[in-house]
Amino acid sequence: MKSYLAIPTIKKTQSILQEKQKEAFLRSIEYKTVAEWLRFSEELYDTEPIAESVSYNDWNAPYCFHALCPKYLKAVRRLGCRSFRKGQVAMLTVAGGLGTRLGFNGPKGLVPVTPVKHKTLFQVFAEKLKALQQIYGRPIHWLVMTSEETDTDTRKAFREHNWYDLNYVHFFKQGVVPAFTEEGSCVIREDGSVHYYPDGHGGVFKALERNGLLKALKGWGIKYISYFQVDNPLVRLDDPQFLGFHIYKKSEFSTKVVEKVSPEEKVGVFVNVNGSLRLVEYSEMPEALTRQQDKAGYLAFRWGNTAIHLLNLDFVERCARLDLPYHKAHKKVQNWCPEQDKMQTEIGIKWEQFIFDALPYAKNPLLYEVERCEEFSPVKNASGSDSLETCMRDQVLRWKRWFKKVKISVDIPLDFFNNSHVEVSSLFADSLDVFLKKVKRLKLTQGFFEKLYLE
Ligand code: UD1
Repeated sequence: MKSYLAIPTIKKTQSILQEKQKEAFLRSIEYKTVAEWLRFSEELYDTEPIAESVSYNDWNAPYCFHALCPKYLKAVRRLGCRSFRKGQVAMLTVAGGLGTRLGFNGPKGLVPVTPVKHKTLFQVFAEKLKALQQIYGRPIHWLVMTSEETDTDTRKAFREHNWYDLNYVHFFKQGVVPAFTEEGSCVIREDGSVHYYPDGHGGVFKALERNGLLKALKGWGIKYISYFQVDNPLVRLDDPQFLGFHIYKKSEFSTKVVEKVSPEEKVGVFVNVNGSLRLVEYSEMPEALTRQQDKAGYLAFRWGNTAIHLLNLDFVERCARLDLPYHKAHKKVQNWCPEQDKMQTEIGIKWEQFIFDALPYAKNPLLYEVERCEEFSPVKNASGSDSLETCMRDQVLRWKRWFKKVKISVDIPLDFFNNSHVEVSSLFADSLDVFLKKVKRLKLTQGFFEKLYLE
């Protein structure tokens, strides 16, 4: 298996190649390691039609905590709280992606997302971490995975913001793989060097190991990694019940799931492949299956991946020794065009590893259903679904619901996008429970508020 993953190692510093050298160089890549690598990936995907191996059975039903008695839930929550207090949990954000799809020229984590203070995604997460530290009285380690494309700007932004007042932020860079033209040759830069692209978030395991973080995490007494993507400001990091279930059920890989809103929604879904729990990415799910219904008329494959996971550190260590498959995607690549002697954008083939391909190797994987409106509203597109506009709307609606619960009729104008008037920092509360406890102490009077910001 290992030999397939060998990637041509051509140093960037190689001298600028002349025309003929470029040709020879390309040929040499094409017919050696890369060709081997391509063959491997093609074998992997063309010989396993997923439609035939996917079946629907009760693996699809996530563990439903709503039906459980309050006493039991309390005990589970206590288990989670204890682990937080012991400092056994580290946070991990995968932030290798750019904000290009949003028209933002930089790391996605630097996109401003909150309605009143226009805080960036990174600042939102940093505040969640600070709140966690205050609640459990422990410093929390935050691992931020960057890519070649986002590393410099991300580090710079953290430096400029004085690390958002956090003392334990650890950056580590993910790996890279070559991309190809549709014809199968390697895409290159102007100087003839291979144009590498990030290897997908499945590269996180090896990247943690390469950067010495697995060893460090062990030394710090970490047992669980709370993993989330850079695009979802609603992610709830202080969730002792989720952690409690993960521990109680002896799960090595737990995921928060939401019910899909429509067959077309672009979320990965959980399926059973030959008896083991797997996640099939939306782009690889056969259309007929996305529409399939069960006897009760629900979507058969309805449990959508929020990409909020809990992973055991021991399991992560095991995964660092695995060779996860690469998924093929036809996406925009930058390639040097010999005719025009300049770089141009074309559709090529990119390869990415997915973290959830580690799922079949995990013991007792757990699915945990959450309310979408409370915990999931990612920013992915410039407009329409999963856009900045829908994300701000969902943040504001969440806070408005919280205010309603305490029967304080706070009348806040709700023009979500351009002129929003309400924001509750995670430093004040990041869940209804905490909000309810704290808001009463504020003695807010009822009435109309021009602008309301709580911190
Ligand atoms: C992703 C999930 C999908 C899930 C949805 C929930 C994948 C392949 N699919 O879809 O199952 O339902 O989110 O919102 O992840 N990233 C890196 N390095 C990389 C590639 C990605 O750090 O090389 C990070 C991005 O910064 C981002 C996250 O991974 O935080 C997701 O990547 P993206 O390609 O946007 O996945 P989606 O298509 O949104």
